Amino acid sequence: LNILSVTSEIFPIIKTGGLADVAGALPSALAAEGVRVITLVPGYPAVLKALEAMEVVHRYLSFFGGAATLLSGRAGDLDLFVIDVPHLFDRPGSPYLAPDGRDWPDNARRFAALARAAADIGQGVAPGFAPDVVHAHDWQAGLVPIYLSLTEGPRPATVMTIHNIAFQGVFPPHLLFELGLPASTFTIDGVEYYGQIGFLKAGLQHADRITTVSPTYAKEIQTPAGGMGLDGLLRVRSTVVSGILNGIDDKVWDSSADTNLAQSYTRDDLDVRITNKRALQKHLGLSQDPDVMLFGVVSRLSEQKGLDLVLAGLSRLLAGGAQLTLLGSGDRILEDRFRSAGLAHPGQVGCFFGYDEGLAHLIQGGSDALLVPSRFEPCGLTQLCAMRYGCVPIVSRVGGLADTVIDANEMAVSAGVATGFQFGPVALSPFTDAIDRAKALWRERDAWRRLQGNGMRADVSWRRPAKQYARLYGSCLST
Ligand code: ADP
Ligand code: GLC
Repeated sequence: LNILSVTSEIFPIIKTGGLADVAGALPSALAAEGVRVITLVPGYPAVLKALEAMEVVHRYLSFFGGAATLLSGRAGDLDLFVIDVPHLFDRPGSPYLAPDGRDWPDNARRFAALARAAADIGQGVAPGFAPDVVHAHDWQAGLVPIYLSLTEGPRPATVMTIHNIAFQGVFPPHLLFELGLPASTFTIDGVEYYGQIGFLKAGLQHADRITTVSPTYAKEIQTPAGGMGLDGLLRVRSTVVSGILNGIDDKVWDSSADTNLAQSYTRDDLDVRITNKRALQKHLGLSQDPDVMLFGVVSRLSEQKGLDLVLAGLSRLLAGGAQLTLLGSGDRILEDRFRSAGLAHPGQVGCFFGYDEGLAHLIQGGSDALLVPSRFEPCGLTQLCAMRYGCVPIVSRVGGLADTVIDANEMAVSAGVATGFQFGPVALSPFTDAIDRAKALWRERDAWRRLQGNGMRADVSWRRPAKQYARLYGSCLST
């Protein structure tokens, strides 16, 4: 089976969130299932720099307002196609934002170009590679299914995966012609979305299969509360909608061989984990006391992540001397509020604002518990990393968080299956109740060790999800 995966970011080359992790890890997990994946990414400077054994596959004289080249090559263990369009992608920094923090004004054209190149590969423009399925991720690849549906003759099957329905790629209708979309596509069955052009909408309308990244989120997005305007469409297409949980790369997240940690460990020697706690406390200016509970956060700072609850519940969280460490970047107002919290509680609250892969690992390897109080969460990867690192996740009962963490209620504890704490609804008092439950269990050393051990034993790898994707790809071919 040959798959073309189409994504706007990929770990370890360019990443703003979990999509990059998924796009980067899934290909090798699928290889073990006999599925060959080549990933198409935009030719950002970081991608061109990482590309090895580069070959020119196709040249476009005129491609969305300039010349372009389709390249193939490798980066680490990833097989890549790169659509090199200097006038669209030769820009440093974020894949989506200009230096002023706003979306690039030509994002419609940039990601239409990505989708167009994918459709061309689907139509055989790359000699020697004929994908059976084109797998499009998020709105940036949303036009792939419609471009393919506009072509004559046989075409590969299409899968559209929603990583976050909050981002939909909505653009003004006058761009239709420029994006190569005939006027006939501007209908409710095509790209039209509340009078605009909807990239994700178009993808969901035209893909053979729709997936999202957890079974619970697959249901949530079919409700008015969770669908952000697309729930009606998803209900109509519900027979082709499914949820497949994400995994994490267990080579990247391996506490027994992680050079970002002060001390590596396994679930058989969890006592030595304390060295990481000390290192983390020192790194972020917290008082170096192993006998206080240390809560961690590793997150984008955005409304989605519910971190205002952490601020609102801070005094309860810190009661008894507990500590908070936060690594995050994004929303300036949230950043300022956490900065103030750090100043108000020196030695007890330590924050680092920015993106820091190594520190993310140290927080998972050194904190006692990880807070993920998201308002909605398609899957979430940090709670999986936490479980694997013996850092107990405290999560809201939404989306993939609900599907991946087993709450330490009395029965789950006595059955020996609990892996963390869930709370719901997403509001202050359920949140602080969960904090109090966690603090109480943390004091029972053996019970806490069992919780950590259960999480570390859970299979959070890509093995199971990869089998599900392989089956899904197979099922599209038989229709
Ligand atoms: P989302 O994709 O919504 O941001 P996920 O939990 O799916 O959330 O994935 C987030 C990924 O980004 C995880 O791999 C997490 O470790 C990482 N991450 C988030 N914020 C930071 C940060 N400030 N520094 C380093 N890694 C981060
Ligand atoms: C999105 C979601 C997150 C998910 C990730 C990868 O960024 O917010 O929940 O884990 O995509 O699928």
